[in-house]
Amino acid sequence: MSNSLRIAVITGASSGIGGEFVRQIDCEEHYDEIWVIARRKDRLEALQETVQTMLRVMPLDLTDKDAIKQYGAALAETRPVIGLLINAAGFGKIGKTEDMSLEECDNMIDLNCRAAIDMTQASLPYMDTGSRIMEICSTAAFQPFQYLNIYAATKAFLLRYSRALRWELIPRGIIVTAVCPYWVKDTEFIGTAKKTKDSSYIKSFPLSSKMKSVVAISLHDSRMGCAVSTPSPVSTLHRFFGKVFPDSALMSIWEGLRRV
Ligand SMILES: NC(=O)c1ccc[n+]([C@@H]2O[C@H](COP(=O)([O-])OP(=O)(O)OC[C@H]3O[C@@H](n4cnc5c(N)ncnc54)[C@H](OP(=O)(O)O)[C@@H]3O)[C@@H](O)[C@H]2O)c1
Repeated sequence: MSNSLRIAVITGASSGIGGEFVRQIDCEEHYDEIWVIARRKDRLEALQETVQTMLRVMPLDLTDKDAIKQYGAALAETRPVIGLLINAAGFGKIGKTEDMSLEECDNMIDLNCRAAIDMTQASLPYMDTGSRIMEICSTAAFQPFQYLNIYAATKAFLLRYSRALRWELIPRGIIVTAVCPYWVKDTEFIGTAKKTKDSSYIKSFPLSSKMKSVVAISLHDSRMGCAVSTPSPVSTLHRFFGKVFPDSALMSIWEGLRRV
């Protein structure tokens, strides 16, 4: 595999955390190409103006199973070595669970869970010793969250999946890191999450992080081989509380916090 093209693959690269990963990886790591995946082709193409590394733009809707087939076909044709896979595509919806449409529920599960797993499965045959996987989860994975219910459940799923996969891949020398950010305010995530029948169930997003620091810390953690990256003091504290307090206690605290 030594003469193969060495690439990084980043989903959700058309905005927010995914786009910031592309920019920081361009400066700090060396790949022949970065493959960038999201639905908005124009945004992916515009990213090329901000980085030196050659981008391969793949405009795909990852909730569509055919998208994974197209990604797999591109891999089979190019036969690269994937040095880094980052599954950053994801979205959440704030509101009462019974108010969510079936489409919102299914798309959240399809993108945050199925697509992340399918992307990982499709990529694994092309990974080598030293390759890394970063699954972008959330602090929402650390406890059940009423009024962010389905999203939090999808991220809990992804966190569990990432942790077990890490152990399975130790013999191959592939590192898996589950990245668990707290609210990040300078991406499109919160705006998208609020577009629901009634998003007033979560009133504010105090102590939010910024994507630059979330990406810098989580990339560092991935290079250090961490199993879980909590890229802010709030997310680190939340992880600790998630281990020492029962879910019911954390949900009671959240019941107060979400109203403030
Ligand atoms: N911001 C936060 O508060 C926060 C906190 C914890 C974890 N996270 C996680 O961080 C990740 C990145 O979120 P972000 O904050 O950067 O939000 P964002 O700015 O909304 O970015 C989401 C990305 O996902 C892509 N995407 C959405 N639906 C897709 C689909 N069907 N197929 C392919 N790509 C799709 C979007 O691109 P297109 O619209 O072009 O498809 C976009 O590039 C997500 O997994 C999110 O759950 C965010």
